[in-house]
Parts: sequence; C-alpha cells; structure tokens
Amino acid sequence: MAFVHLDVLCFYSLLICTAFSSVSSNAEIKVNPPQDFEIVDPGYLGYLCLQWQPPLFLDKFEECTIEYELKYRNIDSEDWKTIITKNLHYNDGFDLNKGVEAKIHTLLPPHCTNGSEVQSLWSEATYWKSPQGSQETKIQEMDCVYYNWQYLLCSWKPGMGVHFHISYQLFYWYDGLDHATQCPDYIKVDGQNIGCRFPHLEASDYKDFYICVNGSSDSHSIRPSYFIFQLQNIVKPLPPDYLSLTVKNSEEVNLKWSMPQGPIPAKCFIYEIEFTEDDTTWVTTTVENEIRIARISNESQQLCFLVRSKVNIYCSDDGIWSEWSDQQCWKDLSEEKRSLFSSRHILLTE
Ligand SMILES: *[C@@H]1O[C@H](CO)[C@@H](O)[C@H](O)[C@H]1NC(C)=O
Ligand SMILES: *[C@@H]1O[C@H](CO)[C@@H](O)[C@H](O)[C@H]1NC(C)=O
Ligand SMILES: *[C@@H]1O[C@H](CO)[C@@H](O)[C@H](O)[C@H]1NC(C)=O
Repeated sequence: MAFVHLDVLCFYSLLICTAFSSVSSNAEIKVNPPQDFEIVDPGYLGYLCLQWQPPLFLDKFEECTIEYELKYRNIDSEDWKTIITKNLHYNDGFDLNKGVEAKIHTLLPPHCTNGSEVQSLWSEATYWKSPQGSQETKIQEMDCVYYNWQYLLCSWKPGMGVHFHISYQLFYWYDGLDHATQCPDYIKVDGQNIGCRFPHLEASDYKDFYICVNGSSDSHSIRPSYFIFQLQNIVKPLPPDYLSLTVKNSEEVNLKWSMPQGPIPAKCFIYEIEFTEDDTTWVTTTVENEIRIARISNESQQLCFLVRSKVNIYCSDDGIWSEWSDQQCWKDLSEEKRSLFSSRHILLTE
C-alpha cells in the first residue's frame, strides 16, 4: 500500500510541475541524476547494496537537502519497491535466481524551487549472476525446517535426470555473520550431499536468512539455487505432552496439556485439538494450554483427544504443525461395569 501511495504522490508532483512550467520560470530549474549508480554484491547470497554519488552541479542548491527516489525489483516481478532517502546507499535482499533492476533519480523538494518538486532523469542499473550450468543440474525440492526453534535442517534432491556425480554444497548468511559460511555437517546418501544440519544459530530470527546450494562436478557446471526465508516462519514445534482429560460433570469436560519443552515462549503457541466423543470427532484451536468442552450428550461413554502445536501469528507469519501428541481418553466405567468382561478388559489395557 505504501508504495502505491508514493506512486500517487509522484504522479501529483509531476502534475503540479507540469502545471507550473507553463506559467512560471520554475521549468528552468533542472537537476542532474545521481552519478555512478551501481548494484554491488558483497557475496551475501542475495543481500545487495545499491549505491550512488551525488549529482553534478549541486552547488546551485546549497540551501537544499536533496533526496533520492530509488525503485528496484527482481526482474519479472510486478511491483517496484520505492524508497525515498537522503543517503547514498540502500541495502536489501533479492532473489539471485533472477536478475535485479533498479533506477534512481534526484528530487529537489518544493522549498528549494519556489513551490514545485523537481526531479532529474533516471539513472539505471541491473545485476545478475551469469547463469552457469543447465537447469537440470539445479537441486530440487529444497525443504528447510527449524525444529522446535532450535535445530535448522535443510534437505534437497539432486538435479533431475543427472547421471554424473555432483558434489553439492550449501552456503548460508544472515546479518550478523562476517561472510557466507559453508554447511559444517552434511547429510549424505551414497556419498552425495542431500542435506545440511546447521550449527546453533545465534541471533538469527526475524531477519532474512540466505541460502545458496551450488556444486561442482568433473564434467559439468552446476546451476546454483538461492533461497531466502525467515527462521521464525519455518518452525516445527514438538508435540504437546502430559495430556489430561477431566470430566467435570455430565455436561462439561476439561482438557489440559503441557506446552512443548524448549525455547519457544508460551505466548507463541497455537494448539489444535481433535476431540472425539463416541463416534463424533471435531477439531478446534486455542492459544491457551487448556480448554473446556461441552459434551454433546451426557450419556457418551468414551471421550478422547489429542493435540498438536504450531507457532502462532503473534510470533511469526507462518509455521509448521507439530506431530500429533499421544491420545488421551476417558471411558465411562460405570457403563462398562454392566458388562464385567469389557470392564476387566478396559482396566487391563489402560
Ligand atoms: C525563488 O523566488 C525568489 C523570489 O521570487 C527568487 O529570488 C529566487 O531566486 C527563487 N529561487 C529559485 C531557486 O528559483
Ligand atoms: C558456491 O558458493 C560459494 C558462496 O558464494 C562460493 O564461495 C563458492 O565458490 C561456490 N562454489 C562453486 C563451485 O561455484
Ligand atoms: C441426561 O440429560 C437428560 C436430559 O437433560 C436427563 O434427563 C438425564 O437424567 C441425564 N442423564 C445423566 C446420566 O445425567
């Protein structure tokens, strides 16, 4: 939304500019585009630096703070991101599987020009990693899971229909690491790397996490694959445990469980409960670790439930459900006692 708004602003300032130019001398005020605009890749697997120098002949506008309007996107994406800044650089993350394009112009705010904003022409820059290797050599089905917000594990499959040996390698970087780092502990099948167990990651949440899987082979070049995600969005918690089911009276049951052990704070969980009353099963969710459930019938004889957990929207944009917990059941033994055999049977198996 913000970008749309900015675009509308620009549009208006253009209108005003055009309107004024026919009646006043403001049309004479011109400013040059920024110089030496370039996209620099510091080797962080997608985190790029856009940088530029001030325009020529700025001395005419000494009293002015000039601004720059920067627009950039991955080639093929629909929308430009728009930034207005007084600085001479801007950093952001890009998908290096694709090219990057950017443009920038100088803005003179209205107080410098007696009323209307003046813009320079655009300076443009592009960047792409020259593609090596064929599409078939890229890894497939990359899957990364941050188990219990503690252990990151990624796995992949070798390129489609590749009949020669490829040694794949994984590199990762996030803000806080000095340089792109290679996976220290590969998961291997038949001597080929098909996954990575990451070491403990310090201060790595809520920021972009960049991965590149490239590789080498004796006979072919290998096409690298790039990935960007945020770790808090791929957390798969442990299932809850210590389930208890208390029948309060003929109308209500109380379900309770313990939140999974580990570093995930209690406020970050959502639980899904699958509750079965005799032959009826239904599902509900809660962010507490306890819930009251109204029985459908006061004569139901078996009540069971199980729970699974996920990181909720207060702590992440996305998440992966845990496995289901073990099931916890309650049986109406007073009913069962009518049949001695089945009562015995139940007592023995529980
Ligand atoms: C703005 O207007 C004033 C007075 O009309 C004039 O002296 C000044 O040169 C103008 N400034 C610019 C940048 O045109
Ligand atoms: C894989 O990527 C890393 C990090 O960018 C780089 O240092 C390494 O040389 C690349 N390996 C190959 C075989 O291209
Ligand atoms: C169940 O509910 C019905 C109707 O509300 C009531 O007549 C009956 O006594 C209740 N049975 C038990 C076991 O509480």
